[in-house]
Amino acid sequence: MISHLRKNEHLNKEMQVFDTIKELQAAISIQKGTSKKVGFVPTMGALHKGHLSLVELALKENEVVVVSIFVNPTQFNNPDDLKNYPRTLESDLELLKDLSPDFVFAPAVDEIYPAKGIVKPAVNLGLLEKTMEGKHRPCHFNGVVQVVARLFEIVQPDKAYFGSKDFQQLAVIKEMTRQLKLPIEIASGETIRDADGLAMSSRNVLLSAEQRSEASGISKALFYIRDNWKVKSAAELCSEAIRRIEKNGLMKVEYLELADSNTLETIHSFDQSPVPRIFTAVQVGKVRLIDNIGIIKGDD
Ligand code: PAF
Repeated sequence: MISHLRKNEHLNKEMQVFDTIKELQAAISIQKGTSKKVGFVPTMGALHKGHLSLVELALKENEVVVVSIFVNPTQFNNPDDLKNYPRTLESDLELLKDLSPDFVFAPAVDEIYPAKGIVKPAVNLGLLEKTMEGKHRPCHFNGVVQVVARLFEIVQPDKAYFGSKDFQQLAVIKEMTRQLKLPIEIASGETIRDADGLAMSSRNVLLSAEQRSEASGISKALFYIRDNWKVKSAAELCSEAIRRIEKNGLMKVEYLELADSNTLETIHSFDQSPVPRIFTAVQVGKVRLIDNIGIIKGDD
């Protein structure tokens, strides 16, 4: 155990923090023995309100809640991104203590990937790994599948929670769970935004003040598309959105694409899908941010 119990005096509840699989599984199995429903929120730490909203949801829907904090090296295709990814375990634990999930699992890399290696799950992601994030971050989803399958195997939850900001990741995890026939329900939480619309992301803390203020232009451009989809063509709206994001020269759009929410197939007009969704990845200096919104109001 890397740290002893963290007690939330207000809730009179204790949160146990583990860094070994053995201790975590022993603690979970005591609870499982009483057939309690286990909810799981996997994270890479640097927690923000988006993560906390998933933990809150998990606490409402399950009797036992596990949160993992693990910066997974295999899903980073850029070594600098991995090196610079914020690691804030102590403040993460403080934030979690306020909600008091039962267990926090914060393992080291060799606990998740022991020397003997871990068999990668055999899943065929098809289009999901060829489009958008899959195309621009080669091998990223391989790493996500690898770590999420490993964490699922360790925690064996009944239900696991992922944010919709990473909409393509959510689709990948649903597909992986389906192909591996895992008895785990995958739930999603809505994208949580700052007051100016910027989607909350662990990477936002890496932005300078100027970049942070500029970055609100990303969601504004997506909302501009949603507000005008009935009166202008998709092509016109997408090129105007890119122009708006890039207008001050501080941000560069990597992709901005319209796709079907269910299949993630690219579409070129709004009537090609009952659930069109706009996806973007934007480079803000050295920081890469992603966002997406459903075009039909209510399909956030
Ligand atoms: O979304 C994340 O934070 C990560 O990709 C996840 C799902 C925890 C896997 O490392």
